Amino acid sequence: MLGVCYYPEHWPEAWWVEDARRMHDLGISYVRIGEFAWSRLEPKRGLYDFAWLERAMDTLAGAGLKIVLGTPTATPPKWLMDEYPDIAPVDEQGRVRGFGSRRHYTFSSESWWRESRSIVEAIATHFGEHPGLVGWQTDNEYGCHDTVLSWGPEDLKAFRKWLRRHYQTTDQLNEAWGNVFWSMEVQNFDEVSLPILAVTETNPAARLDFWRFKSEEVAAYDRMQCDIIRRLSPGRWITHNFMGFFNEFDHWQLGRHLDLASWDSYPIGFVERFPFTEQERERWAETSHPDIAPFHHDLYRGVGQDRFWVMEQQPGPVNWAPWNPVPKPGMVRLWTWEAFAHGAEVVSYFRWRQAPFGQEQNHAGLNLPRLHELSQGGREAETVSRELKIVGQLGAASRARVAIVYDYQASWVTRIQPQGRDFCYHELVFRWYEAARRLGLDIDFVAPGASLQGYALVLVPSMPIVSDAATEAFSKASGILLFGPRTGSRTSSFAIPDNLPPGPLADLTGTRAIEASSLRPNVRHRVSGAVSGHAIRWRDHLEAKGEIIARFDDGLPALVSNGRSYMLACWPDAELTQSVLSAVATSAALDTCSLPDHVRLRRRDGLTFAFNYGGLEWICPDGVEVLVGDRVLCSQQLAIWRSPASP
Ligand code: GAL
Repeated sequence: MLGVCYYPEHWPEAWWVEDARRMHDLGISYVRIGEFAWSRLEPKRGLYDFAWLERAMDTLAGAGLKIVLGTPTATPPKWLMDEYPDIAPVDEQGRVRGFGSRRHYTFSSESWWRESRSIVEAIATHFGEHPGLVGWQTDNEYGCHDTVLSWGPEDLKAFRKWLRRHYQTTDQLNEAWGNVFWSMEVQNFDEVSLPILAVTETNPAARLDFWRFKSEEVAAYDRMQCDIIRRLSPGRWITHNFMGFFNEFDHWQLGRHLDLASWDSYPIGFVERFPFTEQERERWAETSHPDIAPFHHDLYRGVGQDRFWVMEQQPGPVNWAPWNPVPKPGMVRLWTWEAFAHGAEVVSYFRWRQAPFGQEQNHAGLNLPRLHELSQGGREAETVSRELKIVGQLGAASRARVAIVYDYQASWVTRIQPQGRDFCYHELVFRWYEAARRLGLDIDFVAPGASLQGYALVLVPSMPIVSDAATEAFSKASGILLFGPRTGSRTSSFAIPDNLPPGPLADLTGTRAIEASSLRPNVRHRVSGAVSGHAIRWRDHLEAKGEIIARFDDGLPALVSNGRSYMLACWPDAELTQSVLSAVATSAALDTCSLPDHVRLRRRDGLTFAFNYGGLEWICPDGVEVLVGDRVLCSQQLAIWRSPASP
């Protein structure tokens, strides 16, 4: 089903009826509203004005639309910031990040928690049982604009409290952090400072704990909002809209208390954000790379425990990337169908109409600015809405045979102590995902420590800290396991394990890492044997008890197999990634194919979907009956047919 994000407060009230009617006629079922409207809902402390939003909700519901209401906490109003300056976040240089845009709050401020409770309670009390209201979105994009970590007095106070709870005594804290190094020992928790603004690198264990503390704070803050909503708005579900390529807090933890996950899909904007090569950026500039949106659909399907929405879908050019091209014709339709193919329940476009004022005036909507007239994206949404009727109700996304374990902590550890400048965790995961998808495989993402039973193949691109729960999940997994560089290289206190890396996975993998080597650009090592290609960026120097099935040019083990486990001792280049993924897929007895770099497949509920991101034509398998699209898939086109005929 389709949805849209709407801002009634941006338009004359006289337009609402017409907007609602046109949404309905376009085939839109859901409308998200309210998430930035605090200054209109409470213009002065305690002076609530809910009447306008109620009229807007009545109008939308009257046109048959189902409403998702956002809590407005991403935009604390000016009067509140003036009253409680301690709400404002502080950057790593100690500068206050003030009023003037949005997300100007730190999760540590006690005033902020109190004020958030009170606005959420007021709104949930007033609107919680509105007949048109079906669900809630908490806040908006936690952490957007770099707002998870904040480094002010409020943060320090809360961090010390967290440390007291976790370590109880400073002896235990000193021991865990290794504070004897450089005479960092403290005698009292009030002597702990934030791990910033020091002469050189601060203690990595302290930094990791600060990140964990902040990540827990985000989840607790969201939980606080959810508890209020559940109490005051019975029978409505709750989601939060997550972002792309965003690792600043542990989404698995937050996702556990939501009814479903959602995320904001801006495939073209992300081309500029991800560390692609310039060549790739040029290639995918107007379509996006064929794995960007799918990667996140699969990740958030996991975070949402099998349920997810796209809450904001790019409908045309955005305003926030260094360059913001108009997507090639067909892409808005393709991205929408692709989300459904990966299990999305709803794709909701951002936004109904382009805003002619404010920060985002260059951001497209389904309608042109100031007008009741569809944009190119709006017309493509209309096409999808017609096609959805042909395909009918889609069933649940079934479990894939391949799992990737996605570890937010791995991102923090490798950024706190990079050791090699270009070791970017989510880039590594993305490249493994890309290679697996080029083999035509469907993929699930799984949290570290979650059960891996039932998967034929489990990919662990890197997991520096392997918890007891994760160790157990690996030992109970029935499929093939592939581990990547730096796995098991740190304890939970950010120290080297007693038995050296991979620590608790030594027996399972039959390996021990003696040294690690980071490789500057253009330094590479040939790998040959059962797989081939080159190591770039990173190499682990392994001793192997298991079978060495590929070696580096200097004879050291590159790929070690030990029963159902494989350990890859490097960051693989594209050739090696493809070769390793293909080898482990074969050993997991998976059916694979070889797709060109611009085509991807995905199955859902007895249907197969094919997407052509552009380049050469692609021909669907012989004998399939295509429900949507053509057998000959041109650029920016898609086709849907009934499985099982897979190529
Ligand atoms: C999202 C955000 C929206 C809007 C949009 C523009 O990150 O949630 O409010 O700013 O980006 O692309």
